[in-house]
Amino acid sequence: MSRAGRWVRRWYGAWRASRLGTRLAFGLGAVSLVVFAIVGALTVELMHDYLNRRLDEQLKTSQVTQVPHLRESKDNPEVVYSWYSAVFEVRQGVAVPQPGSTLPADVRPLAKVAEEATRGDVFRTVYLHDQGSYRVRACPVDAGTVLLSAAPQADLDSTVQQLVLIEVVAFLVALAILVIAGRLVLRRGLRPLSDMAGTAHDIASHDLTGTANLPVRASGTGGGAEVEELRTAFNLMLSHIESSLAARTAANDRLRRFVADASHELRTPLTSIRGYADLFRYAAANEPEEREAHLEKIRAETARMSVLVDDLLLLARLDANDAEPPVRPQRMDLTEIAVAAADAFRAGRPGHPLTLEIPDDPVMLHADPVRLRQVLDNLLANAAVHTPAGTRVDVTVAVADGMAVTRVTDGGPGISPEAQERIFDRFYRVDDSRTRAGGGTGLGLAVVHSLVLEHGGTVAVESEPGRTTFTVWLPLSA
Ligand SMILES: Nc1ncnc2c1ncn2[C@@H]1O[C@H](COP(=O)(O)OP(=O)(O)OP(=O)(O)O)[C@@H](O)[C@H]1O
Ligand SMILES: [Mg+2]
Repeated sequence: MSRAGRWVRRWYGAWRASRLGTRLAFGLGAVSLVVFAIVGALTVELMHDYLNRRLDEQLKTSQVTQVPHLRESKDNPEVVYSWYSAVFEVRQGVAVPQPGSTLPADVRPLAKVAEEATRGDVFRTVYLHDQGSYRVRACPVDAGTVLLSAAPQADLDSTVQQLVLIEVVAFLVALAILVIAGRLVLRRGLRPLSDMAGTAHDIASHDLTGTANLPVRASGTGGGAEVEELRTAFNLMLSHIESSLAARTAANDRLRRFVADASHELRTPLTSIRGYADLFRYAAANEPEEREAHLEKIRAETARMSVLVDDLLLLARLDANDAEPPVRPQRMDLTEIAVAAADAFRAGRPGHPLTLEIPDDPVMLHADPVRLRQVLDNLLANAAVHTPAGTRVDVTVAVADGMAVTRVTDGGPGISPEAQERIFDRFYRVDDSRTRAGGGTGLGLAVVHSLVLEHGGTVAVESEPGRTTFTVWLPLSA
């Protein structure tokens, strides 16, 4: 690449890297330069024209006053300022200056103008050797006689030159002030943007992997509507990022706890199974009649573990939105499910009297009957497991506001308000030691919650001592 090319590239690079304020100031300067050049050229041209016209006017006035006088007296022409004045006799197209004329050494250029003027007034600009240019006017006095005056244009030229000089200096000063002051003003105006960039850098220097909060915001006020708008949008974006970060961190924490709890819950039955297996081996050698009992325990623990694993798998699949959902909806009647669940409950939990109240008409839903049965079974199981024997349980199905409303109510001890808030959390149990012994893992209501959500419904609990109600709202089929 040539030297010039490299130079241009370097300057282009520096220009691109320069600050916006500087660039705008220089852009403003460039535009002003063009405007100044146009204004300057125009004023010089107009000034030049005006002075020329004035000179012509003066030449004419001086000659017009002289002509009548010259006609009568054949006197010498008057000498005005430092002008040349002459009377020419024009014979056969050749002009000859008359005595008494003031003329330069080389008369020819002036004589030529005089020769043209026999028929009328003539204005010319003539260059005289060593003396610069002259404005010349010639007019006929008599037939064959011409009066000629020549005024130097040097004064006029120096006036115009001075004007050019003054303009150039004035414009350069104005340009310098414009660029310097413009740069300062623009820098000041753009400061809010630099501040925002500083905030962005600040955020970039934060490690966001571990924390959920983003404490920095673009502060300050003013800077114009656009800057204000940008600042608001910027801060809005930061709050958005912060809330997303918080949600992600919370989800990660939940997942970590879920995995930890799941491993913990799985370890318990596994430890039991290992223990019973050891006992079984011992019994096989020493107390054969005990073997069956140990084997039964092993089977029970395995059954408990497979229920737990099924629940975990279901929750994991409900969580993974993109995977094929574990719910196969179809048109179904909710009352049928309620009747089946109630029958199963009556058979399986004879210690808890159950009443069922359903509408006469079917309640049609677009839902997975197997999963809804699971929802009802979990709620009913809780009503039986977490209440004393003999506690009555009521199930009602109704339609309200375009939703199917299912309520499972029991007359048990109830759930405290603090526990109600966390009751749908995974692995949450109100009385950990008691229910653990009873075999619950704390996943039943979490499964209910996820399944109802997956069906587009909601579930809530209301409880006071002696009355606990779980209500499930599900959208009716169209
Ligand atoms: N009807 C109820 N009356 C009183 N307490 C209840 C009732 N239903 C649930 N609970 C409390 O809520 C906790 C969470 O219930 P959840 O069904 O999620 O778990 P679980 O019944 O302990 O175990 P799992 O259902 O997984 O076998 C229970 O441990 C229990 O303490
Ligand atoms: Mg339960």
